[in-house]
Amino acid sequence: MFLQTLFIFSLLIATTQASVLDFCVADPALPVGPAGYPCKKAAAVTVDDFVYYLGAAGNTSNIIKAAVTPAFSPTFPGVNGLDISIGRLDVAVGGVIPFHTHPGGSEILVVIQGTLCAGFISSFDNKVYFKTLNKGDVMVFPQGLLHFQFNSGKIPSIAFVSFSSANPGLQITDFAFFKNDLPTEIVATTTFLDVAQIKKLKGVLGGTN
Ligand SMILES: *[C@@H]1O[C@H](CO)[C@@H](O)[C@H](O)[C@H]1NC(C)=O
Repeated sequence: MFLQTLFIFSLLIATTQASVLDFCVADPALPVGPAGYPCKKAAAVTVDDFVYYLGAAGNTSNIIKAAVTPAFSPTFPGVNGLDISIGRLDVAVGGVIPFHTHPGGSEILVVIQGTLCAGFISSFDNKVYFKTLNKGDVMVFPQGLLHFQFNSGKIPSIAFVSFSSANPGLQITDFAFFKNDLPTEIVATTTFLDVAQIKKLKGVLGGTN
């Protein structure tokens, strides 16, 4: 009877351990896959894996006068596997987060300071949805769609953006076109832009060829 009880008890523990995984804190030293990073050993997990500081303004002294500070799974290991993440946007007066996409997740943005004009473009009919957002306004950007934000006000803007992915990715269209070594002729052929304009943007963004 005792042995039988012990057996059932062990089975229960084993079943519990096998069926519930509370979290899978990223081990960013290991290679990331489609489902995220492999889990850190539970014994090595600390509360700091679940805490991130986004209280500091990003550095907006750059060509776009804006900064994106991501708290995604590579730097915020606690979100790994949870299909959620967050980031901070700082956009100086005249600054812009140029057209970009997040291939891996939808985005929800809340303005906490200043004014942002934000919008996205649908993929099926290229309809534009854009609006000027003020403090307290929230806007959602569906996964994968091209979208932008720029400061249309007179003071620096701050927004927080959350994603339905632990690592949604960020591809900025201008950087994809003009910040690499794709030959200018091919960029011209595939975008219908003038060569002079392409060369100018490559020069500004650090592209070659
Ligand atoms: C912000 O970035 C610029 C350009 O890279 C740099 O010169 C400046 O020192 C940075 N400021 C701070 C506070 O880190």
